[in-house]
Amino acid sequence: MAATRQSGFDDSFYQPADQFFPANNHLGLTFDDVTLATFYSEILPRDTQLETQLTKNLRLNIPMISPDMDTVTESRMAIAMALNGGLGLIHYNMPERQQLSEVSRVKFHVQGMIQEPIRVLPEQHIGDVLKMIEERKFSFSTFPVVDATGKLIGLLSSHVVKPRYAKRKVAEALTPRAQVRTLNQKELGKDPIARADKFFNEHLGIHKLLVVDDKDHLHGLITLSDIERIAAERNAQFKPARDANFRLICGAAVSATRNAFGELDRERILNHVGALVERRVDAVAVSTAHGHSRGVGDTVKVLHDAFPELPLIAGNVTSAAGVEYLADCGANAVKAGQGAGSICTTRIVAGVGIPQMTALYVCARAAARKKVAILADGGIAKSGDVVKALTLAQAVICGGIFAGCNEAPGETLEIDGKLYKQYRGMGSFAAMKAGSAARYGQPTNPAQKVAAEGIEAIKEACGSVDRVLAQLIGGIQSGMGYLGAANLEQLRQKARYIRVSPAGMREAAPHDVVELKTGN
Ligand code: XMP
Repeated sequence: MAATRQSGFDDSFYQPADQFFPANNHLGLTFDDVTLATFYSEILPRDTQLETQLTKNLRLNIPMISPDMDTVTESRMAIAMALNGGLGLIHYNMPERQQLSEVSRVKFHVQGMIQEPIRVLPEQHIGDVLKMIEERKFSFSTFPVVDATGKLIGLLSSHVVKPRYAKRKVAEALTPRAQVRTLNQKELGKDPIARADKFFNEHLGIHKLLVVDDKDHLHGLITLSDIERIAAERNAQFKPARDANFRLICGAAVSATRNAFGELDRERILNHVGALVERRVDAVAVSTAHGHSRGVGDTVKVLHDAFPELPLIAGNVTSAAGVEYLADCGANAVKAGQGAGSICTTRIVAGVGIPQMTALYVCARAAARKKVAILADGGIAKSGDVVKALTLAQAVICGGIFAGCNEAPGETLEIDGKLYKQYRGMGSFAAMKAGSAARYGQPTNPAQKVAAEGIEAIKEACGSVDRVLAQLIGGIQSGMGYLGAANLEQLRQKARYIRVSPAGMREAAPHDVVELKTGN
């Protein structure tokens, strides 16, 4: 059928990657320098599939990763990413112990279970509880009652949390332990949501389920309304990214740490990653600014030998030789991008780096030969950039896009009535002082002079990760619909590129109108 084929005339303008990029090899191209041509399509955006297999043991339901940056990914962000089908890489600008517990928080996150429910003590007065509700603006008034050791001794129901009982002690008003229905955490099994759902079906009128351990210590609270919301979400198109034990997936970054003699500290790296593996981390990223270097290669080799089944991400590189080197050392996925990030100054400070689309093409072709995945890292500002990056890479890493989300670490700042969150490069002075200097090959002793390769900035607060991802995914699916690509493999096959002139770029954005509302 002629309609399904691209006409030969089109082919002379809109070229596949292997023609387009070699034909433009004299110029470094980035996202705005190119645009994608449409292709015959029978694919509706909503029917497109976004799964991506990064390594034999690591599959994401959406091709989105939040980076190991100290203003982007800690456990809250990693949980939100995994719940949406993606992956968060916990940064290493914190003591190793803390990084381990951040990973544990993600791995032990039971969707729907409040792990640290607000609890009250038997000697408190109902008046104290009412005051707490008012001060902390709680929208609920039923609380588990525990003793000083955390052992469950009853439930304070909302029926008695009333001003008329303010002078009564919690101990007098609680429903005693024997009458409170609970589940042992072991009984939650592989699918806690289904187990809790069954519990609520069996216990008519009970809206709160307390989870305890063998010693009757309180471990969590599951509410009927949360279970009903999650059950509805189960029909959602993009499911949470989980491991074989139904736990959310989580990645963590490590650096190529050196000892006092300047040699690679193999023992420390192995102990650290060994502890991460014990906590069931799903991928480890050896993150540095210059991945095509001996320290990174040796670290990857050491980890590959010690943990052959652990998915290893390494970077960053922008050359085919860099990808081949890291793949030969044992990396399964390679981060491509140098100096593209919104907070990066590597190209200005060091005069080094390659515009992102050219870098991705060069890296992608080497990666295909070596059978490793490419993660497009940095420079992504809009969903159209994600679509372009995914024509060459298996997933994208976005820092700036997620830094303004509620789930990113750090306080929200108010400036002139607008809300912002801090976002800084890991090569900024402040981040390097907090520990990331090794990533940039800079002295780790704060007294020594360092050259910053990143800036400190703020991002406008942009709400939840769910909301931001919904917009990005909508854009990716729309791009796939235009190219007639049912999945990411087809997107890579069907992509046809053309250069954009400066006037063409102006044409791409709203023009010659008075904008009343942005697209967002
Ligand atoms: P975006 O554009 O999403 O980029 O904000 C995030 C990526 O930028 C890299 N990164 C840096 N690069 N100096 C750099 O040259 C820095 O200080 C810096 N901090 C982060 C990193 O790859 C991240 O994922």
